[in-house]
Amino acid sequence: MYNLLKGKKGIIFGALDENSIAWKTAERVHQEGGTFVLTNAPIAMRMGQIQELADKTGSEIIPADATSAEDLENLITKSMEILGGKIDFVLHSIGMSVNVRKGRHYTDQNYDFTTKGWDVSAVSFHKVMQTLYKQDAMNEWGSIVALTYMAAQRTFPDYNDMADNKAYLESIARSFGYFFGKDKNVRVNTISQSPTPTTAGQGVKGFGGFIAYAEKMSPLGNATAQDCADYTVTLFSDLTKKVTMQNLFHDGGFSNTGVSMEVIERFED
Ligand code: NAI
Repeated sequence: MYNLLKGKKGIIFGALDENSIAWKTAERVHQEGGTFVLTNAPIAMRMGQIQELADKTGSEIIPADATSAEDLENLITKSMEILGGKIDFVLHSIGMSVNVRKGRHYTDQNYDFTTKGWDVSAVSFHKVMQTLYKQDAMNEWGSIVALTYMAAQRTFPDYNDMADNKAYLESIARSFGYFFGKDKNVRVNTISQSPTPTTAGQGVKGFGGFIAYAEKMSPLGNATAQDCADYTVTLFSDLTKKVTMQNLFHDGGFSNTGVSMEVIERFED
């Protein structure tokens, strides 16, 4: 451990269970000396094991639906009270498509479902940042990270409307990153992560084939949730102060690989 986050204070959204990327990140941030408030949707509190994570990392939990401005205002005000000052880092690790959950095909969306999934998966990132911005809750040289997937750039048929939500999310990172950078010296980035076996990941149809294919296509193999936690720590640290408005691929090289020998061999006679 390097004490990279010593004295830094943050908010971590989206730890549902021990497989969650946010869960691994919280553990890793704790190891690096960071302190934080954990938050998730009230319903996830009942399903998840977040209390265990809070005990392990000496954190408090504040429930908040990330689509509710009122919940977010309360979360950010209370977090500053608990942590004793402004925020240095925020992880947005939230995603959900109602169309995927209800088995609606991309060509047969229910638009109420589409709107809800868009609000949860994409607009919530704007809402989180707008609340932080208006409350002037971020310290200078703070860092805000959201998680995304490459379906925002290239088509993966079963990723459904989450592809569109991720494209929107990445655009918000750039647009808000400009204002947060100019006005507060705060950076905003998205990490485009390999397929990862979590509750949200496994919701994607054909996930087993999808993750195995990505593994064979990536020269370094898929990045795990643990690898993602490590990478996120670097983005929260002072070693990446001038990285902002980027979509950073964290995928073992998948996004720049046309085809791998392992995949070609499967098609040879
Ligand atoms: P996860 O299922 O453990 O986490 C998703 C979280 O979103 C859950 O904790 C859930 O309670 C939370 N959430 C849902 N609705 C919410 C709301 N209204 N307010 C607040 N929180 C809400 O799964 P995972 O994989 O850790 O997901 C984290 C992020 O990583 C998501 O943005 C996901 O799209 C992204 N990602 C996941 C990949 C994967 O293959 N698992 C690949 C690339 C990105």
